[in-house]
Amino acid sequence: MKKVLITGGAGYIASHLIKELLKVDKISISVIDNFKTGFLKTIKTLQTLGEFNFTQLDLSNFEVVKQYINENKFDTVIHFAASSIVSDSMKDPINYYMNNTVNSINLIKCCSQNGIKNFIFSSTAAVYGDIKSQHPIKETTATNPINPYGRSKLFIEKILQDESLVNKEFNFGILRYFNVAGADFENKLGECHEPETHLIPLVAKVALGKIDSISIYGNDYKTIDGTCIRDYIHVVDLAYAHIEVINYLEAGNNSDIFNCGYGHGFSVKEVIHEMKNISNNNFLVKKELRREGDPDILIADNKKILKKTNWTPKFDDLKLICSTALKWENTLI
Ligand SMILES: NC(=O)c1ccc[n+]([C@@H]2O[C@H](COP(=O)([O-])OP(=O)(O)OC[C@H]3O[C@@H](n4cnc5c(N)ncnc54)[C@H](O)[C@@H]3O)[C@@H](O)[C@H]2O)c1
Repeated sequence: MKKVLITGGAGYIASHLIKELLKVDKISISVIDNFKTGFLKTIKTLQTLGEFNFTQLDLSNFEVVKQYINENKFDTVIHFAASSIVSDSMKDPINYYMNNTVNSINLIKCCSQNGIKNFIFSSTAAVYGDIKSQHPIKETTATNPINPYGRSKLFIEKILQDESLVNKEFNFGILRYFNVAGADFENKLGECHEPETHLIPLVAKVALGKIDSISIYGNDYKTIDGTCIRDYIHVVDLAYAHIEVINYLEAGNNSDIFNCGYGHGFSVKEVIHEMKNISNNNFLVKKELRREGDPDILIADNKKILKKTNWTPKFDDLKLICSTALKWENTLI
């Protein structure tokens, strides 16, 4: 029986992974969360789908974390827990570095000292920063984050690399997610951030009349229709990517960094058009000025994860992404 710990399990992405892991044989799953941005309801939903251990625990509680890791001999730790709203990180950088960097360092220390073999880390395309010319973005593209959120994640990437050099038994998989979107096909789980800053759930809210209009920030970018292009990856495909990276590390392969995206993108206008079609609602779209720090295009070069692991994207379909997001949004009050 393999023992896996998931931090941040009450959150959006981790909950979709837990749902998929509950279908895998011979895995004992433990989950921790402090419910800072995650929900007890999500844990309760997951508990109706299968068995796992849940502990309400804040990663800033170093002594308790140390004892917890010490007592449970995990094989793999998948570390999602973080604060992830870019604009908040610019207003309150210290809080972001405390939660995303300091708390992660403590967790990594406990894991490395307790013989945990595999550590999978939720990183982000934000580590690349304002990429002007190199598309799609490779893992070897220079990292130059332009906000505290991106930096708080990049520090941890470096620390994982340094630690695995001195502790040869400690392996890592760093997953740089691009724009994660969509929801569980059974509509039991989905995205819910407060405040919501991601385009697809925001457009779903507008389509359902929860918000009056959607704003397009800048329509003079160097793209097909002047609006920014992003690589949207369905959250269930991303969950599968984690499972394949666990398999990759368990097979004794080397620690590595993997971009997680589909290798192509859609513009803001294309997303809005898709949501209008699906919802049959010609909702109001407002044109605003560009926001500082929004790159024209962010597209993952995903060749490495495709080549080195057994991950194959199954839901690379904007209509499917938007329709699952819309269906989920409709369940939220
Ligand atoms: N959603 C995206 O598009 C996206 C893109 C790139 C990277 N990421 C990264 O993926 C991870 C998950 O993102 P998400 O969208 O699911 O976010 P989320 O806010 O839904 O989930 C994060 C979870 O971590 C928990 N948490 C936060 N701090 C904690 C702490 N100190 N102790 C215990 N639990 C804590 C929260 O309560 C929440 O349940 C994050 O690390 C995020 O930075 C997300």
